[in-house]
Amino acid sequence: RQISNSGMEQRKGRRLVLFPLPLQGHINPMLDLANILHSRGFSITIVHTSFNSPEPSNYPHFAFRFISENLPEDRRACCKTDLIAFLLTLNEECGPPFRDCLADLLSDSSEEPIACLISDAILYFTQDVAHELKVPRLVLRTGAASSFCVFSAFPLLREKGYLPIQDSQLEEPVVELPPLRVKDLPSIHTNDPEDLYKVVTSMVNQSKASSGMIWNTFQELEQAALETLHQQLGVPLFPIGPFHKRFAATSSPCSSLPHDETCLSWLDKQVPQSVVYVGFGSLAIISETQFLEIAWGLANSNQPFLWVVRPGLIRGSDWLESLPDGFLEALGGRGHIVKWAPQQQVLAHPSVGAFWTHNGWNSTLESICEGVPMICMPCFTDQRVNARYVSEVWGIGLQLEKGLERGEIERTIKRLMVKKGGENIRERVSCLKKKSYACLSRDGSSKQSLDDLVRHISSLES
Ligand code: UDX
Repeated sequence: RQISNSGMEQRKGRRLVLFPLPLQGHINPMLDLANILHSRGFSITIVHTSFNSPEPSNYPHFAFRFISENLPEDRRACCKTDLIAFLLTLNEECGPPFRDCLADLLSDSSEEPIACLISDAILYFTQDVAHELKVPRLVLRTGAASSFCVFSAFPLLREKGYLPIQDSQLEEPVVELPPLRVKDLPSIHTNDPEDLYKVVTSMVNQSKASSGMIWNTFQELEQAALETLHQQLGVPLFPIGPFHKRFAATSSPCSSLPHDETCLSWLDKQVPQSVVYVGFGSLAIISETQFLEIAWGLANSNQPFLWVVRPGLIRGSDWLESLPDGFLEALGGRGHIVKWAPQQQVLAHPSVGAFWTHNGWNSTLESICEGVPMICMPCFTDQRVNARYVSEVWGIGLQLEKGLERGEIERTIKRLMVKKGGENIRERVSCLKKKSYACLSRDGSSKQSLDDLVRHISSLES
């Protein structure tokens, strides 16, 4: 081992190959993980599909390899309309080009030898390729441990009749997984419901076959779920999150849309903890009717709001065409709408008092790390489990239970922002914020888990 000029530990001869799922909510945590492991002395090669690829010049300290996955155009487009069909196709099509790429990397004598592959849990096909080429595979799961427990229970949930979900059972409790109800179980619109079962069970089974799993979470948040998974999966687990807080000063998440920096100057003019920040991630799609209910609910709440309306968010609209003429002007500057926000900075801004979110795991964790209470509007899959944990287990948010209706929206915002009950929620999320920082400190749980991970990687025989 050597110490380089920059003071970093150099593990000479240890290269890691990282392969993210090519969707924003998965690419960013994988790149954060790459930075974390690079700072611990490993060389990094990112393997990426040509689809949705990050810009290599933004990451000069990593090597990049692109595989041409040859996805037909209609299959690429279906990452927006049928996500599960897209994931199945990726797993079916990427095998041969990825195998060639990994074999090529292994035979390249000009580079350090490869210690292991780290691939997204959803790229389950990589387990067989790694096994064939005798490369140990670690899995990165970018979602919560709690939702993975639900995925891992899919065969049981089917056996007990909870799956496939029946509309008549939505309010019933899932007694095996409290406090979930049937309507909190992961589901998503897909042409063939069997496809979701196939993706989920393949993800879980191939994670079990891996050499270990890395999690963007921390012990103090998800101890029970991590213990359950440790017993069920039988592989070492490394909860080393929150990833983005390790490089808070330098990380700049990759995205296909530029950040609208007017968000921060607008927030500077608002009263502390008064603003509702509204954003539904990179994939969710809502109807025009839902869009208008959200707009009127926000307007009627009397709170200032910053709203990310991503082009493509509203089915059938380019952007804001369906908003009534003069809607924003009538609010006299109380509302600000942008296409894409610097979300981590927005959540850290003192003016933000609540986050109305779809509960993608990145958004949920980012909100916890800034101590911002949530209004939960899950759209699909793990988001439903995350939302239930936010509202019922951690008690750090309120879920919009009765659909998207302007009166319900207005009441929920007021309950959280101005009524007394909101104070307890605020206190609990501040407490979790402190824990999310403490776990990264010298004796913190995530710091220790990262040390364990580095030792584990160094012990793997490839
Ligand atoms: C997807 C799935 O929807 C989610 O269920 C799963 O947990 C992860 O993958 P996505 O919908 O994009 O993710 O949501 P999320 O996980 O919250 O990630 C969104 C990321 O984009 C966050 O890191 C957020 O900071 C960033 N973002 C979002 C911005 O930088 N600006 C924005 O305006 C909106």
